[in-house]
Amino acid sequence: MSSTIKVCMGSSCFARGNAKNLKLIQKFIEDNNLEAEVELTGLRCCDNCSKGPNISIDDTDYNNIDQGSLLDILEKHFHKHEG
Ligand code: FES
Repeated sequence: MSSTIKVCMGSSCFARGNAKNLKLIQKFIEDNNLEAEVELTGLRCCDNCSKGPNISIDDTDYNNIDQGSLLDILEKHFHKHEG
């Protein structure tokens, strides 16, 4: 089961938090040994700046994320596959 995480790297989202969010996602992937199942890619501005910072995981879009909500999202997505 593999997933794709897309992080908007447009200047608005990047400035609003995705610079840090990206690092947090990378750390989460490393800490949980998810390298084989998660593909992490950056996106250009997806014209949704006012709702940013934006990321998507598989087909679900998440807007206005901060580091706390991001961790919740990641845990929800990636810990449900286990045990
Ligand atoms: S910079 Fe992310 S939607 Fe525009």
